Order: sequence, then structure tokens, then C-alpha cells
Amino acid sequence: MKIIVTGGMGFIGSNFINKLVSSGGSVEVVNVDKMTYAADPANLQKPETVENYKLDISRLTGREHFFENADTIVNFAAESHVDRSIKNSKDFIQSNVVGVHRLLEITRKLDLRYHQISTDEVYGSLPLNSGTKFTENSAYSPRNPYSATKASADLLVKAYYNTYGIKATISNCSNNYGPNQHPEKLIPKTILNALNGTKIPIYGSGRQVRDWIHVADHCNAIRMIIERGKPGETYLVGADGERSNIEVVRKILEIMNKPDSLIEFVQDRPGHDQRYAIDSRKIRRDLGWRPEVDFDHGLRETIQHYIVSRKRYEEKVL
Ligand SMILES: NC(=O)c1ccc[n+]([C@@H]2O[C@H](COP(=O)([O-])OP(=O)(O)OC[C@H]3O[C@@H](n4cnc5c(N)ncnc54)[C@H](O)[C@@H]3O)[C@@H](O)[C@H]2O)c1
Repeated sequence: MKIIVTGGMGFIGSNFINKLVSSGGSVEVVNVDKMTYAADPANLQKPETVENYKLDISRLTGREHFFENADTIVNFAAESHVDRSIKNSKDFIQSNVVGVHRLLEITRKLDLRYHQISTDEVYGSLPLNSGTKFTENSAYSPRNPYSATKASADLLVKAYYNTYGIKATISNCSNNYGPNQHPEKLIPKTILNALNGTKIPIYGSGRQVRDWIHVADHCNAIRMIIERGKPGETYLVGADGERSNIEVVRKILEIMNKPDSLIEFVQDRPGHDQRYAIDSRKIRRDLGWRPEVDFDHGLRETIQHYIVSRKRYEEKVL
């Protein structure tokens, strides 16, 4: 099997590749990454086992030699930070929408299998303290430029499946944590700021709820979908890990034995979504997927990762 991974030097893509190459088997992995600020070659544990190309997905033609004998594209490539999309969404449109359109054209022409990595943010925001969760039938309601581009990409994938019958699947996953995440994101930022003794900014009241999943569990789900998922289907991936941002930050400080006084409440993000929560019964039932990493355990390991690898993250702390 030959898999073209896009965005494999980023957080989730690198964890996916690391898992794929360490699980043995005869999978050939090609990684296409534009190498934005979010990419880091050090994220790959065995770079020699992967063919790496510094390319922008929105400029691919399908005639690149590495597409020869390829079976599958798994698209992780995206601009991924909501705050950056609020400041300027141009690159988000180019990579997350135009880029996906390019990949879908290539998928169609070369008759490949395609998997789109998407987010629960396409469904918008749930009320705090409600029991409702997103399902595969929830209406799309993106509320910031990032999630709007991800929703657009999903709709393109669905349209290409319907119109051209391409073999495509989508997974919408909740918030990931684990090794290799850029320190602009909540968990690594909290750990690194705590290590440095600098203030940890929390938007608004910090009561916003995210549904946390360890990146390894997400990667297992992706692998199952590629191998056994049904073309045309969408799978929601989540680990029943609802926690408020302030709860997560306090937990990290507690584990690290650092004072809560490092927390600094700052002006809320414009249009900040209140709550995300995933109902993942479909992927559990249809593919037998289960999350395996307990949050406390995964968080402790993640903290350890950032302590041990602190040096390579230091210059990225904003
Ligand atoms: N991080 C999460 O919690 C989360 C949750 C659900 C879904 N997702 C989705 O998973 C995917 C990966 O997210 P991440 O957190 O690993 O992001 P990331 O920002 O860490 O990595 C993105 C990678 O894509 C590359 N890239 C960006 N634009 C590109 C382009 N035009 N061509 C080629 N490469 C390009 C970057 O260089 C980087 O290596 C994204 O599509 C994101 O929307 C993320």
C-alpha cells in the first residue's frame, strides 16, 4: 500500500506517520508538506522511512512522480489555528479550500482513495451545560473563518463523492492533545509557560468546553477508516472527554506543581464557540473503534514530552 500523507510534519499528521511506520507492514509513505510555521521535521521519529516533499497541496498537478502507484491520500494539510484565521484568513482559503479542491481533482483523475481530516468545529457551538452532542447528522454551522474553510472542504468532498463517485471518507474529530503540537495551542502553551514561569492567558471566563481526545486515539480511528470505512461516509471521532479550558489548565498546573496565580484571564476571542461535544457511537459501532488513552495518563505523558523536548519548542512559544 502506498499512502500520500499531506501535512505530515504537523501535529496530527506526524503522529499518524510515526504510528504507521512503527507498526511495521509494507506501507510506503509519501509526505507532502508546505512546511509552514506549524511544521517541524523533528516531529518525525524515523524520517528516513518516509519520502518527504516540500510542496503546497494547492499547487499539485497529479503528475508528480510520487503519485505513481499511490492508493490513498490522507489530507491533514491545513492552516489550523482559529486566532490566526481571525487576523487573516487568506492562507486558510488557499490551503483548506483550494488545496482540498486540488486533491479531489487528483483523486478523481487517478482514481485514488481519499480521506479528509476534519474537525467538530464545522458544526458550530453547543450550549454550555446542555446534554446535546454533535452527530453525523448535525447541521453545518461554522462560526469563524477557520471552521468555515474546513466546512467548505467537507462539502466539496461530499459533492465530489455524490457527483463523481470518488472513494472518499471524512472524519470530524474533537480537540486533540499529545506530543508534537505547536505551542500556540492551549495545552502545550500552558505547559511551556508554566515551565517558564510566565503568565498563561485564558480567554474570557475559561468556561468554554472542549471534548479532548489523545492524538494516538484519533490516529487509530483514521487508520480504521482508511482500511474499513465506507466511501461516502462521515465518522465523528471523540473520546467523551468534555472539560472546560480552565479545568484543563488547572489540572496541568496541579500535575506540574505550579501555582494557579500564573493564570491570566484575557479578553475573549471574538465569536468564541462555547462548547463542542461528540457523539462517536457510529465509528464505535461500525468499525469497532474505541479510545484507549485515559485523559489523566495522556496528559501526564504529554507534559513529560514537553519537558523532555522543551528546547525545540522554546523558540515557538508566542
Ligand atoms: N489539532 C486538533 O485538535 C484538530 C482536531 C480536529 C481536526 N483537526 C484537523 O487536523 C488536521 C491537522 O491538524 P494539526 O493540528 O496537525 O495542524 P498543524 O497546524 O499542526 O499542521 C498542519 C500541517 O499542514 C501543513 N500545511 C499547511 N498548509 C499546507 C499546504 N497548503 N500544503 C501542504 N501542507 C500544508 C503545515 O506545514 C503543517 O505541517 C487539520 O486539517 C485540522 O483541521 C485538528
